Amino acid sequence: MTDPTRFLAAFSQALSTTGLYGDEHPATERAVETALERLSDLQSSDPRLQFTFLNGEVLFGTETVPSLESWEWCSRLIKAGVERLEFTDRVDIDHFTKFLAHLAVRLGIRNAPSGDLWQMGDSAIRFGQITVGESLGAIKHTQLPIAALSYSLREERETMDWLHQEIHSGDRLPMVEADAVVRSLSIAMHAEQAMVLPLLHLKEFDQYTTTHSMNVAVLAMALGEFLELGGATVRALGVAGLLHDLGKVCIPRDILIKPGVLTDTERETIREHPIVGARMLLASPDPLDLAAVVAYEHHIMLDGGGYPTLHDSRGAQYASRLVHVCDVYDALRTKRPYRESWESERTLAYIEGRAGIEFDPAIARSFIAMMRKWDHRIAMLPA
Ligand SMILES: [Fe+2]
Ligand SMILES: [Fe+2]
Repeated sequence: MTDPTRFLAAFSQALSTTGLYGDEHPATERAVETALERLSDLQSSDPRLQFTFLNGEVLFGTETVPSLESWEWCSRLIKAGVERLEFTDRVDIDHFTKFLAHLAVRLGIRNAPSGDLWQMGDSAIRFGQITVGESLGAIKHTQLPIAALSYSLREERETMDWLHQEIHSGDRLPMVEADAVVRSLSIAMHAEQAMVLPLLHLKEFDQYTTTHSMNVAVLAMALGEFLELGGATVRALGVAGLLHDLGKVCIPRDILIKPGVLTDTERETIREHPIVGARMLLASPDPLDLAAVVAYEHHIMLDGGGYPTLHDSRGAQYASRLVHVCDVYDALRTKRPYRESWESERTLAYIEGRAGIEFDPAIARSFIAMMRKWDHRIAMLPA
């Protein structure tokens, strides 16, 4: 079989250049042309090509490519959701350029382009993840594509930053804006025929509260929909997810982003955020009872552990238990100053292992089933 190394080298070069210069720069045009030429060479006998990127290994068709052992782009592509890349036919330069721009956004090396976006649709280029547990010989041929990157959620992030500042400076909670963010997230989730989970991928930890709030809102709404809880409840879960950590606006930034071990006083400060947040939500002009309850209870574990101490033997409310799972999932998936982000499967295994101890077992089971069902529908947006 022909060696695909030349193509993959040019492909990664074109991706870097697209990320560095945008797709209209002469350097990018040259790099894209080179990659496309090498792709055409590779397609000369059969235009249908298939690449699989595994940890430290590249498969071309079903064959390992020895020269690409430990190829650094493998893990990057995997992180961007590209475990399998397929060409079903020849592609033209315009289409290929857009595809590279799309991939560069997924890789987090460029912002979403403002012009025309590449959509998987009928494209001759397909990519996706390999379903976990599937044997390599039986990899599903068509993983569902995600074309949701027309949503950057930038405005929503800015709104959330502003909202956090407003609260921090002692103003009332701008409820209209919080509702609008939840509505936008819901629209992005339903932008295609199948569910899309637009999750923000954090690079700098200091944007954490904003991106985390939005991710928990998306996950809580998705789980609500997965459980068929009904529109109003799903929306209320979205608001509760979005505002669950509101009390963190009062925690000094250097404690929030501290890389080392916290002192007892610092830990106490952090542990106050559920109470502070609930108080803020109850003081808001509109009744936000559910969000207040969730803010208060989202760190309470099923076995009574966590904080604050609940003096109600029934334990935390259903919505709080649901948001708790989404909260932990997003927290573990995020890189922290003191640890790397966890892979999705590791995070799901953790949730499974803690079901019945920390998490409500039925909710944990549903969450895992939901993530397995919609895992390939996650659109990772650069934060
Ligand atoms: Fe929290
Ligand atoms: Fe949280």
